[in-house]
Amino acid sequence: MRPGTTSAARLCRVGRMRARRTCLAVPGSNPRFLEKAQGLPADEVFLDLEDSVAPLAKESARGNIVAALKEGDWGGKTVVVRVNDLSTSWTYRDVIEVVEGAGDRLHCLMLPKVEDASHVRWLDVLLTQVEKAVGLPVGVIGIEAQIESARGLVNVDEIAQASPRVETLVFGPADFMASIGMRTLVVGEQPPGYAEGDAYHYILMRILMAARAHGLQAIDGPYLQIKDVDGFRRVAARAAALGFDGKWVLHPGQIDAGNEVFSPAQDDYDHAELILDAYDYYTTVERRGAVMLGDEMIDEASRKMALVVAAKGRAAGL
Ligand code: GLV
Ligand code: MG
Repeated sequence: MRPGTTSAARLCRVGRMRARRTCLAVPGSNPRFLEKAQGLPADEVFLDLEDSVAPLAKESARGNIVAALKEGDWGGKTVVVRVNDLSTSWTYRDVIEVVEGAGDRLHCLMLPKVEDASHVRWLDVLLTQVEKAVGLPVGVIGIEAQIESARGLVNVDEIAQASPRVETLVFGPADFMASIGMRTLVVGEQPPGYAEGDAYHYILMRILMAARAHGLQAIDGPYLQIKDVDGFRRVAARAAALGFDGKWVLHPGQIDAGNEVFSPAQDDYDHAELILDAYDYYTTVERRGAVMLGDEMIDEASRKMALVVAAKGRAAGL
């Protein structure tokens, strides 16, 4: 446990799985988008101070974000602010101004370009100080850690367990592709010349393994061809099939597709609930461990798989 983080705060974080099927990026420099985002059906909004905000607009964007958090109606959304990365001169003021100004309206800060555990620890300590100063419960603000470089990926396990505040690992494909020298400019699509397999499979699986090993969510990053909703759906389905919990959306047109892709199909959800009911009946009333449900044999492992689908379906309101 990190210094200054109470066990109560750690306990309240354990098992906390916020809705994140779609995570909408909203530039903090654009008050109109900050207003519009409140009415859109994304599970998460993240108000951005990093790459979608020009250097000369960084300071005013902090003020826009604090005002939007305080005055806006964010409904049941997961509310996140992305601060600048630690190689810049902006990060500490981003954290202080946003959390002092509107920390009680915020679920998490997103830290981009996390390279190793020390980056997360730095944010944990600063958050603890600001939370104490403004009278928030210590540990209440979570961290989303973006993995977007070769170094971040190599250190992903230590990043995942660097602080009990960490809730998700987020893949940043654009920065990641630049970091490894991948020869394409189309974010999320296969690089030309790579005919066999999926160039992202290892990266996505590595992030997913670290997330699951440490009880975190795994979120896929953006698809930049915002007019190509079919392309978005195809790339999102790839991450959803592996087990990812959600994906960034950059445009309102991607939200419905994202919510659908990261929710189980109605048939799969109904089937999962049936497995849970049947398994419960056979193990408790008939005291049998492996039984037939129609043509399918189900056992304890089937129950665990059904629980995953049922939990996602219930969260999606199926
Ligand atoms: C997101 O931050 C990315 O680099 O893809
Ligand atoms: Mg990035």
